[in-house]
Amino acid sequence: MANKLWGGRFKEEPDQALEAFNSSIGFDIRLYKEEIAGSMAHCKMLEKVGLLSQEEASQVIQALGQIERDIERGRYQDLDQYEDIHHLIERALVEKVGEVGEKLHTARSRNDQVALDVRLYVREEAKEVITHIKGLQEALVRQAEANIDLILPGYTHLQRAQPVLLAHHLLAYYEMFRRDVARFLESLKRVNVLPLGSCALAGTTFELDRHMVAQELGFDEVSRNSMDAVSDRDFVLEFLFCSATTMMHLSRLSEELVLWASQEFGFVTIPDALATGSSIMPQKKNPDIPELVRGKTGRVYGNLVALFTTMKGLPLTYNKDMQEDKEALFDTADTVKACLQVMARLVAALEFNRERMERAATQGFLVATDLAEYLVRKGVPFRKAHETVGRIVLRAIEKGVELDQLTLKEMQGFSRHIEEDVFDWLTPLKSIERRSLEGGTGRESVKMQLQTAKKELGL
Ligand code: ARG
Repeated sequence: MANKLWGGRFKEEPDQALEAFNSSIGFDIRLYKEEIAGSMAHCKMLEKVGLLSQEEASQVIQALGQIERDIERGRYQDLDQYEDIHHLIERALVEKVGEVGEKLHTARSRNDQVALDVRLYVREEAKEVITHIKGLQEALVRQAEANIDLILPGYTHLQRAQPVLLAHHLLAYYEMFRRDVARFLESLKRVNVLPLGSCALAGTTFELDRHMVAQELGFDEVSRNSMDAVSDRDFVLEFLFCSATTMMHLSRLSEELVLWASQEFGFVTIPDALATGSSIMPQKKNPDIPELVRGKTGRVYGNLVALFTTMKGLPLTYNKDMQEDKEALFDTADTVKACLQVMARLVAALEFNRERMERAATQGFLVATDLAEYLVRKGVPFRKAHETVGRIVLRAIEKGVELDQLTLKEMQGFSRHIEEDVFDWLTPLKSIERRSLEGGTGRESVKMQLQTAKKELGL
């Protein structure tokens, strides 16, 4: 059977519909660089162990280089004739160098090839994702620094809770993304293991130099068990999980921006260039970008669950089900990178509305906890202080005023420990100032966070 990688055993031509159904070339063409790099390394090793002559090896290497350029120039258009990327490269090689090209598959199977290609791909993508996360972190840090004086309410249950610095709020996201970077880096240890040499599942009778191939391709280790190596897609799942976590963080940031850009909050203005309008309501300006990022989180979660489900019932070793890993992987990598890039641009362009934020931080008794802590400093047990301040707040609500608008006398009616210095505890700015312990929202603490972040990003 001409042009197949496996024709010998078959008497009939394959059904055309089956061929189309079985084929992965439509998407795994994206792995051409990895397939070629792996093939070159394998070829050099075959030469070293005497399975290819020097002449043969250099012919193959040269042809593989040409094929890579040909693909980049769009020379391979009619992809339907190939089953997958492994098929395409081998056919192209044989076309160029004849029988020598047929030798390259010695001591190799598509099972260990595809495992290799996907590992190389994930390694590259993880590094790119990390770069894009850092780009977003930089945007957050720059906004934090430029707006170091801005205060706003911090929320719990989406109810105003305590005043915080905007910089502190933004740097909370910096921390989430810092963990994401660490998570991707950690996962790379398990990605960077060479599966080649496992062949179909059981290894090979040839004495290969797997460590040479590992070194050529920049792998830290070679896989210990050939059966595991060709059935393992944990490293893809890890990439999908790390990506899903990053998307979750992006989605939370998006949600805040959608809220903050609403007229109800009015904390932030999204520049016209990064917003959209309505086809019917002329006054509308919509935050489509953060909404889309929030929305795309769903498909990245979906990809993770899809691959988990694909893998869960598979016996050892390779099963064709595993071809389904690729679209989930590619879509995830594309989505997370695009979202990170667009979010970095958006964050960098945000204009914060100082007045709206400050006003919100002064209304709603956000300094009530400070008043309780004031009483504790005067010797009142915290639980008692909490109760007392609760009553004072109730009085303020009834009168329709804020805590600092009550008179000293009124407050003293609730606790004899309250003195003139209490007013020093009732403004948002003072509340923030007093929280300069490590990790707090105080200006000194936030400046420390900023300094550390800038150092980490090399800014
Ligand atoms: N296209 C296949 C995949 O993506 C390559 C491996 C095929 N191996 C096999 N034994 N049919 O998984």
